[in-house]
Amino acid sequence: MICLGIESTAHTIGVGVSNGKKVLSNDKGMYKPVKEGIVPRKAAEHHAQVVGEVLERAISKAGVSLSEIDVFSFSQGPGLGACLKIGAGASVYLSQKFGKPLVGVNHCHAHLEISRFLLKMKDPLYVYVSGGNTQIIVGKKGGLPFSVLGETLDIGVGNLFDSLARELEFEYAHGSEVAKLAARGKYFELPYTVKGMNFAFSGLLTAAVREKEKKSAEDICKSVMDTAFAEVCEASERALLMSKKKELIVCGGVAQNAQLCAHLKEMCEENSVKFGVALNEFNADNGGMIAHTGMMNYLKDKKGLKEVRINQYWRIDEV
Ligand code: FE2
Repeated sequence: MICLGIESTAHTIGVGVSNGKKVLSNDKGMYKPVKEGIVPRKAAEHHAQVVGEVLERAISKAGVSLSEIDVFSFSQGPGLGACLKIGAGASVYLSQKFGKPLVGVNHCHAHLEISRFLLKMKDPLYVYVSGGNTQIIVGKKGGLPFSVLGETLDIGVGNLFDSLARELEFEYAHGSEVAKLAARGKYFELPYTVKGMNFAFSGLLTAAVREKEKKSAEDICKSVMDTAFAEVCEASERALLMSKKKELIVCGGVAQNAQLCAHLKEMCEENSVKFGVALNEFNADNGGMIAHTGMMNYLKDKKGLKEVRINQYWRIDEV
Protein backbone atom coordinates (compact mmCIF):
# COMPACT_ATOMS: atom_id res chain seq x y z
CA MET A 1 0.00 0.00 0.00
CA ILE A 2 1.27 3.47 -0.89
CA CYS A 3 0.20 6.72 0.76
CA LEU A 4 0.90 10.26 -0.42
CA GLY A 5 0.89 13.07 2.17
CA ILE A 6 0.67 16.83 1.76
CA GLU A 7 1.91 19.18 4.46
CA SER A 8 0.93 22.86 4.43
CA THR A 9 0.41 24.10 8.00
CA ALA A 10 2.74 27.13 7.81
CA HIS A 11 5.73 28.19 5.67
CA THR A 12 6.37 24.75 4.12
CA ILE A 13 4.46 23.00 1.37
CA GLY A 14 5.69 19.41 1.46
CA VAL A 15 4.75 16.27 -0.42
CA GLY A 16 5.92 12.83 0.69
CA VAL A 17 5.25 9.24 -0.32
CA SER A 18 5.38 6.27 2.06
CA ASN A 19 4.87 2.55 1.63
CA GLY A 20 4.55 2.02 5.38
CA LYS A 21 8.04 0.53 5.69
CA LYS A 22 9.92 3.48 4.27
CA VAL A 23 9.42 7.10 3.30
CA LEU A 24 10.10 6.84 -0.43
CA SER A 25 10.30 10.56 -1.11
CA ASN A 26 10.00 13.81 0.78
CA ASP A 27 10.05 16.99 -1.26
CA LYS A 28 9.15 20.54 -0.36
CA GLY A 29 8.96 24.21 -1.20
CA MET A 30 9.37 26.94 1.39
CA TYR A 31 7.93 30.42 1.73
CA LYS A 32 10.69 32.59 3.21
CA PRO A 33 9.66 36.01 4.44
CA VAL A 34 12.77 38.16 4.94
CA LYS A 35 12.09 40.80 7.60
CA GLU A 36 8.42 40.28 8.39
CA GLY A 37 6.88 37.32 10.12
CA ILE A 38 4.89 34.78 8.14
CA VAL A 39 1.93 36.45 6.35
CA PRO A 40 -0.65 33.65 5.94
CA ARG A 41 -2.07 34.97 2.67
CA LYS A 42 1.37 35.31 1.06
CA ALA A 43 2.42 31.87 2.30
CA ALA A 44 -0.76 30.36 0.87
CA GLU A 45 -0.15 32.08 -2.49
CA HIS A 46 3.36 30.62 -2.52
CA HIS A 47 2.04 27.12 -1.71
CA ALA A 48 -0.60 27.32 -4.44
CA GLN A 49 2.05 28.33 -6.97
CA VAL A 50 4.53 25.54 -6.20
CA VAL A 51 2.39 22.60 -5.01
CA GLY A 52 2.24 21.14 -8.55
CA GLU A 53 6.00 21.05 -9.05
CA VAL A 54 6.65 19.74 -5.51
CA LEU A 55 4.12 16.97 -6.18
CA GLU A 56 5.81 16.06 -9.47
CA ARG A 57 9.25 15.86 -7.83
CA ALA A 58 7.93 13.75 -4.92
CA ILE A 59 6.20 11.30 -7.27
CA SER A 60 9.20 10.97 -9.55
CA LYS A 61 11.67 10.48 -6.66
CA ALA A 62 9.40 7.80 -5.15
CA GLY A 63 9.38 5.99 -8.51
CA VAL A 64 5.59 5.68 -8.59
CA SER A 65 2.82 7.24 -10.62
CA LEU A 66 -0.17 9.08 -9.14
CA SER A 67 -2.49 6.28 -10.27
CA GLU A 68 -0.52 3.84 -8.06
CA ILE A 69 -1.25 5.83 -4.86
CA ASP A 70 -3.74 3.94 -2.66
CA VAL A 71 -4.48 6.66 -0.09
CA PHE A 72 -4.10 10.45 -0.10
CA SER A 73 -3.54 12.34 3.15
CA PHE A 74 -3.04 15.93 4.25
CA SER A 75 -2.26 18.07 7.29
CA GLN A 76 -5.70 18.89 8.66
CA GLY A 77 -4.42 21.11 11.51
CA PRO A 78 -3.30 22.82 13.62
CA GLY A 79 -1.92 25.63 11.50
CA LEU A 80 -2.66 28.74 9.50
CA GLY A 81 -6.10 28.52 7.88
CA ALA A 82 -5.09 29.95 4.50
CA CYS A 83 -2.13 27.55 4.24
CA LEU A 84 -4.06 24.49 5.44
CA LYS A 85 -6.66 25.09 2.73
CA ILE A 86 -4.06 24.73 -0.04
CA GLY A 87 -2.95 21.25 1.10
CA ALA A 88 -6.55 20.22 1.77
CA GLY A 89 -7.69 21.45 -1.66
CA ALA A 90 -4.86 19.71 -3.51
CA SER A 91 -5.45 16.40 -1.74
CA VAL A 92 -9.23 16.52 -2.23
CA TYR A 93 -8.62 17.07 -5.96
CA LEU A 94 -6.19 14.12 -6.16
CA SER A 95 -8.39 11.76 -4.16
CA GLN A 96 -11.42 12.56 -6.34
CA LYS A 97 -9.50 12.43 -9.61
CA PHE A 98 -8.04 9.00 -8.84
CA GLY A 99 -11.03 7.71 -6.85
CA LYS A 100 -8.95 6.90 -3.74
CA PRO A 101 -9.68 7.52 -0.04
CA LEU A 102 -8.56 10.72 1.67
CA VAL A 103 -7.46 10.91 5.33
CA GLY A 104 -6.68 13.89 7.55
CA VAL A 105 -3.61 13.98 9.78
CA ASN A 106 -2.89 16.04 12.87
CA HIS A 107 0.45 17.78 12.19
CA CYS A 108 1.77 17.25 15.72
CA HIS A 109 0.74 13.57 15.67
CA ALA A 110 2.77 13.19 12.45
CA HIS A 111 5.91 14.66 14.08
CA LEU A 112 5.58 12.18 16.97
CA GLU A 113 4.82 9.09 14.87
CA ILE A 114 7.51 9.61 12.23
CA SER A 115 10.14 10.06 14.97
CA ARG A 116 8.96 7.01 16.92
CA PHE A 117 9.02 4.96 13.70
CA LEU A 118 12.45 6.12 12.49
CA LEU A 119 14.06 5.84 15.92
CA LYS A 120 12.45 2.44 16.56
CA MET A 121 11.20 3.50 20.00
CA LYS A 122 8.10 2.04 21.65
CA ASP A 123 6.75 4.26 24.37
CA PRO A 124 8.77 7.47 24.74
CA LEU A 125 8.19 10.80 26.43
CA TYR A 126 7.88 13.27 23.56
CA VAL A 127 9.34 16.75 23.80
CA TYR A 128 7.65 18.53 20.92
CA VAL A 129 9.32 21.84 20.15
CA SER A 130 8.22 23.95 17.20
CA GLY A 131 7.24 27.47 16.19
CA GLY A 132 3.63 27.33 17.25
CA ASN A 133 3.83 24.57 19.86
CA THR A 134 5.99 23.46 22.73
CA GLN A 135 4.59 20.48 24.62
CA ILE A 136 5.64 17.49 26.68
CA ILE A 137 3.52 14.54 25.60
CA VAL A 138 2.97 10.88 26.41
CA GLY A 139 0.85 8.37 24.50
CA LYS A 140 -0.95 5.16 25.38
CA LYS A 141 1.82 2.63 24.67
CA GLY A 142 3.51 5.48 22.77
CA GLY A 143 0.57 6.14 20.40
CA LEU A 144 -3.02 7.39 20.42
CA PRO A 145 -4.57 8.73 22.58
CA PHE A 146 -1.99 11.29 23.70
CA SER A 147 -1.89 13.38 26.88
CA VAL A 148 -0.09 16.66 27.33
CA LEU A 149 1.86 16.64 30.60
CA GLY A 150 3.25 20.13 30.22
CA GLU A 151 3.28 22.92 27.68
CA THR A 152 4.03 26.56 27.02
CA LEU A 153 1.62 28.91 28.72
CA ASP A 154 2.09 31.52 25.99
CA ILE A 155 4.21 31.25 22.82
CA GLY A 156 6.08 28.31 21.28
CA VAL A 157 9.85 28.23 21.67
CA GLY A 158 10.36 28.55 17.89
CA ASN A 159 8.08 31.59 17.88
CA LEU A 160 10.22 33.05 20.70
CA PHE A 161 13.38 32.81 18.56
CA ASP A 162 11.67 34.08 15.37
CA SER A 163 10.21 37.05 17.28
CA LEU A 164 13.60 37.81 18.82
CA ALA A 165 15.22 37.75 15.37
CA ARG A 166 12.65 40.29 14.17
CA GLU A 167 13.09 42.50 17.24
CA LEU A 168 16.86 42.49 16.70
CA GLU A 169 16.20 43.39 13.05
CA PHE A 170 18.19 40.54 11.51
CA GLU A 171 18.57 40.49 7.75
CA TYR A 172 16.91 37.06 7.72
CA ALA A 173 14.55 37.09 10.71
CA HIS A 174 14.55 33.40 11.60
CA GLY A 175 15.32 31.34 14.72
CA SER A 176 18.26 29.63 13.00
CA GLU A 177 20.03 33.03 12.91
CA VAL A 178 19.54 33.36 16.68
CA ALA A 179 21.32 30.01 17.13
CA LYS A 180 24.27 31.19 15.00
CA LEU A 181 24.78 34.38 17.02
CA ALA A 182 24.23 32.59 20.33
CA ALA A 183 27.31 30.47 19.63
CA ARG A 184 29.47 33.63 20.00
CA GLY A 185 27.64 35.24 22.96
CA LYS A 186 28.03 35.48 26.73
CA TYR A 187 25.22 34.57 29.11
CA PHE A 188 23.45 37.07 31.36
CA GLU A 189 20.46 36.39 33.56
CA LEU A 190 16.92 36.76 32.20
CA PRO A 191 13.46 35.84 33.62
CA TYR A 192 13.05 32.08 33.94
CA THR A 193 9.50 30.67 34.17
CA VAL A 194 8.75 27.03 34.92
CA LYS A 195 5.53 26.08 36.70
CA GLY A 196 5.49 22.36 37.36
CA MET A 197 5.76 20.85 33.88
CA ASN A 198 4.61 24.05 32.15
CA PHE A 199 6.78 26.94 31.04
CA ALA A 200 6.46 30.41 29.52
CA PHE A 201 8.57 32.47 27.14
CA SER A 202 6.91 35.82 26.44
CA GLY A 203 8.27 37.54 29.60
CA LEU A 204 11.72 36.29 28.60
CA LEU A 205 11.29 37.87 25.15
CA THR A 206 10.13 41.23 26.57
CA ALA A 207 13.03 41.37 29.05
CA ALA A 208 15.57 40.44 26.36
CA VAL A 209 14.32 43.10 23.94
CA ARG A 210 14.67 45.71 26.72
CA GLU A 211 18.43 44.98 26.79
CA LYS A 212 18.81 45.83 23.08
CA GLU A 213 20.72 49.10 23.62
CA LYS A 214 22.94 47.76 26.43
CA LYS A 215 23.95 44.26 25.32
CA SER A 216 25.26 42.82 22.09
CA ALA A 217 22.93 40.80 19.85
CA GLU A 218 25.21 37.78 20.43
CA ASP A 219 24.83 38.03 24.23
CA ILE A 220 21.05 38.47 23.97
CA CYS A 221 20.69 35.46 21.66
CA LYS A 222 22.89 33.29 23.89
CA SER A 223 21.00 34.27 27.05
CA VAL A 224 17.52 33.81 25.57
CA MET A 225 18.45 30.46 24.06
CA ASP A 226 20.13 29.15 27.24
CA THR A 227 17.18 30.27 29.40
CA ALA A 228 14.49 28.83 27.09
CA PHE A 229 16.27 25.49 26.71
CA ALA A 230 16.90 25.24 30.46
CA GLU A 231 13.14 25.71 30.99
CA VAL A 232 12.31 22.94 28.51
CA CYS A 233 14.92 20.61 30.04
CA GLU A 234 13.76 21.18 33.63
CA ALA A 235 10.11 20.51 32.76
CA SER A 236 11.07 17.48 30.65
CA GLU A 237 13.12 15.97 33.46
CA ARG A 238 10.20 16.40 35.86
CA ALA A 239 7.89 14.74 33.30
CA LEU A 240 10.35 11.87 32.83
CA LEU A 241 10.54 11.21 36.57
CA MET A 242 6.76 11.37 36.92
CA SER A 243 5.90 9.27 33.87
CA LYS A 244 8.79 6.81 34.45
CA LYS A 245 9.35 6.55 30.67
CA LYS A 246 12.63 4.97 29.64
CA GLU A 247 12.87 6.68 26.25
CA LEU A 248 12.73 10.34 25.22
CA ILE A 249 12.20 11.77 21.75
CA VAL A 250 12.68 15.42 20.90
CA CYS A 251 10.86 16.40 17.69
CA GLY A 252 9.49 19.37 15.76
CA GLY A 253 11.30 22.23 14.04
CA VAL A 254 13.39 23.33 17.04
CA ALA A 255 14.66 19.74 17.49
CA GLN A 256 17.07 20.69 14.68
CA ASN A 257 18.93 22.81 17.23
CA ALA A 258 22.09 20.94 18.29
CA GLN A 259 22.33 22.75 21.64
CA LEU A 260 18.85 21.69 22.76
CA CYS A 261 19.56 18.10 21.68
CA ALA A 262 22.85 18.05 23.61
CA HIS A 263 21.16 19.33 26.80
CA LEU A 264 18.32 16.81 26.59
CA LYS A 265 20.71 13.98 25.76
CA GLU A 266 22.86 14.78 28.79
CA MET A 267 19.77 14.93 31.02
CA CYS A 268 18.63 11.55 29.64
CA GLU A 269 22.03 9.98 30.29
CA GLU A 270 21.93 11.17 33.91
CA ASN A 271 18.54 9.44 34.28
CA SER A 272 19.48 6.26 32.32
CA VAL A 273 16.91 7.10 29.65
CA LYS A 274 17.40 6.40 25.93
CA PHE A 275 17.51 9.63 23.93
CA GLY A 276 16.46 9.98 20.28
CA VAL A 277 16.15 12.66 17.64
CA ALA A 278 15.28 12.02 13.98
CA LEU A 279 17.16 13.53 11.03
CA ASN A 280 16.52 17.25 10.45
CA GLU A 281 14.56 16.41 7.29
CA PHE A 282 11.83 14.88 9.48
CA ASN A 283 11.88 17.54 12.21
CA ALA A 284 11.36 20.35 9.75
CA ASP A 285 7.77 20.35 8.43
CA ASN A 286 7.55 17.70 5.70
CA GLY A 287 5.10 15.65 3.67
CA GLY A 288 6.83 12.34 4.46
CA MET A 289 5.58 12.38 8.05
CA ILE A 290 2.03 13.12 6.82
CA ALA A 291 2.20 10.20 4.36
CA HIS A 292 3.51 7.86 7.10
CA THR A 293 0.85 8.89 9.64
CA GLY A 294 -1.87 9.07 6.98
CA MET A 295 -1.21 5.41 6.21
CA MET A 296 -1.41 4.51 9.93
CA ASN A 297 -4.71 6.42 10.27
CA TYR A 298 -6.17 4.72 7.22
CA LEU A 299 -5.16 1.21 8.29
CA LYS A 300 -7.00 1.64 11.61
CA ASP A 301 -10.50 1.49 10.09
CA LYS A 302 -9.87 1.62 6.33
CA LYS A 303 -12.27 4.53 6.04
CA GLY A 304 -11.59 7.83 4.31
CA LEU A 305 -13.02 11.22 5.27
CA LYS A 306 -16.61 11.85 4.22
CA GLU A 307 -16.41 15.56 4.86
CA VAL A 308 -13.24 17.64 4.66
CA ARG A 309 -12.74 20.36 7.24
CA ILE A 310 -9.51 21.93 8.39
CA ASN A 311 -9.01 22.56 12.11
CA GLN A 312 -6.64 25.43 12.88
CA TYR A 313 -6.62 24.73 16.62
CA TRP A 314 -6.58 20.90 16.69
CA ARG A 315 -4.67 19.85 19.79
CA ILE A 316 -2.79 16.57 20.05
CA ASP A 317 -4.90 15.49 23.04
CA GLU A 318 -8.05 15.92 20.92
CA VAL A 319 -6.90 13.48 18.22
FE1 FE2 B 1 5.92 21.15 12.49
